[in-house]
Amino acid sequence: MFTVPELLEKINIHITNLKFDRTSQGLYDPVTYVLSMGGKRIRPVLMLMAYNLYKEDVTHIFGPATGIEVYHNYTLLHDDLMDRADRRRGKETVHKVWNDNTAILSGDAMLVLAYQFMAQCPVEHLKDVMDLFSLTALEICEGQQLDMDFEQRKDVTEEEYLEMIRLKTSVLLAVSLKIGALLGGASSEDAERLYDFGMNMGVAFQLKDDLLDVYGDAAVFGKNIGGDILCNKKTYMLIKAFEHANDEQLHQLTTWIDAESFDPAEKIAAVTQLYNQIGIKELCDNKITEYSERAMESLIAVKVAAEKKNELEKLMKDLMHREV
Ligand code: IPE
Ligand code: IPE
Ligand code: MG
Ligand code: MG
Ligand code: MG
Repeated sequence: MFTVPELLEKINIHITNLKFDRTSQGLYDPVTYVLSMGGKRIRPVLMLMAYNLYKEDVTHIFGPATGIEVYHNYTLLHDDLMDRADRRRGKETVHKVWNDNTAILSGDAMLVLAYQFMAQCPVEHLKDVMDLFSLTALEICEGQQLDMDFEQRKDVTEEEYLEMIRLKTSVLLAVSLKIGALLGGASSEDAERLYDFGMNMGVAFQLKDDLLDVYGDAAVFGKNIGGDILCNKKTYMLIKAFEHANDEQLHQLTTWIDAESFDPAEKIAAVTQLYNQIGIKELCDNKITEYSERAMESLIAVKVAAEKKNELEKLMKDLMHREV
């Protein structure tokens, strides 16, 4: 069995050696740019780890592992455009370096490339894998649509938020594990348990991402801090702030959410201060712990020797304590 750093190194080398050199440099340069910035690569690593619970020859599934990472990076190109986010992984985003249309079209090309890589999976599993991948890709669009819809609303519930992040984020972590399990020859029950593990981990992961968007260190996190506050993203933190604010705090919060023109730094500072007063960070940390524990329950239920699952447990814990 391989450790997380070993798998990460393998897939990083593989992705780094990919060449996107068909003509139309203008289309492929942004693809190379975004893939060269790395990122945590957790989705391909999760796929390889799930496969590695059952099989050793991990290079056999580098096609789909690459596909899932290229797909993830495609979502980031379009997400940054939708969120008007200027920084990612410590660098300017594609629509800043080039322009909006480039982010759209290079993103489209990456989605197609992702399907090509995914289709390199062992032929006996091709149909199942492509069906799973396509359903997941649709769910992510649905989650992103909800995320945008919620920006315009002030009555989003915790339940609605959890469903939105399940769709926009968790299903991709979950399906990475499920595809890895399927390709490794896991029982359908185990594949489902690993999917559930990914789902719960994904919710904790997005809660943590939302937390870092407010409380992270921009230099480490690699994204600008406060972007979610500026877009009125209905995060768990904002929903809880509405719920727990006293009259005065509620008035201030609503004023900032409704403001049409404001100084961005001032809005971020004011909303963060309200979060601090209301004790939102603690509430969010507790929710992260709750979903990490649920994830552990799903992982424990997977019927392979406990010591084989240590790396997955470790990876999840590292993700919940991450600063990046
Ligand atoms: C960012 O994903 C988008 C979310 C789902 C929060 P990651 O945090 O995995 O981004 P990279 O690939 O490591 O940069
Ligand atoms: C990410 O949500 C979801 C997808 C990219 C599908 P965010 O918008 O919170 O991700 P970041 O913070 O930009 O990475
Ligand atoms: Mg975003
Ligand atoms: Mg977004
Ligand atoms: Mg975010």
